[in-house]
Amino acid sequence: MQNENRMHEDVERVLLSEEQLREIVSRIGAQISADYKDRGSKLILVSVLKGSVVFMADLMRAITIPCCIDFMSVSSYGSGTTSSGVVKIIKDLDTNVVEGADLLLVEDIFDSGKTLSYLKEMLSARKPASIRLCTLLDKPDRRVVDLQADYVGAVIPDAFVVGYGLDYDEKYRNLPYVGVLKPAVYGGEE
Ligand code: IMP
Ligand code: MG
Repeated sequence: MQNENRMHEDVERVLLSEEQLREIVSRIGAQISADYKDRGSKLILVSVLKGSVVFMADLMRAITIPCCIDFMSVSSYGSGTTSSGVVKIIKDLDTNVVEGADLLLVEDIFDSGKTLSYLKEMLSARKPASIRLCTLLDKPDRRVVDLQADYVGAVIPDAFVVGYGLDYDEKYRNLPYVGVLKPAVYGGEE
């Protein structure tokens, strides 16, 4: 129990509660279902590992129209809190029929935007019918690329957050809420 308490103690404040996350997921799920329902093409939700898995698992169940899922893994962060700017593909899509499909990239957080901007460009070259971005969290203050997400769960201030899939050094992903990590945990200023 001691370790469990420590995980919660490392959180300065809860930014999005479980209840708020549920509301976000059902709102975006309904919006996506309405937007894509009359399109003839195949909808593929592309989760960017690992941060978006929790959001993806909830979101796909809030989508009421047929869709497929696929996963990509890229590296943009090591164990620190700032983007290296280098995006490396660790795992590509399993699907090789992207041409003519509607791709919806599902991300945990849209920070500098480097990761999504790179992925959008790379996947566009495979000629999908459309490509859109869906992110649980948006930190617009940190953006360095000219790109906006099509579906945004919540706009948040520039603080390092963990939980509901988001990690610091691979930890805290299993917290059921999104919280601001105490800066002391990652050696930042209080
Ligand atoms: P970007 O390329 O700078 O937009 O980085 C996006 C990725 O950085 C996300 O998918 C996260 O893995 C990570 N990231 C950015 N900000 C945070 C944060 O506040 N908490 C946890 N991970 C973050
Ligand atoms: Mg991520």
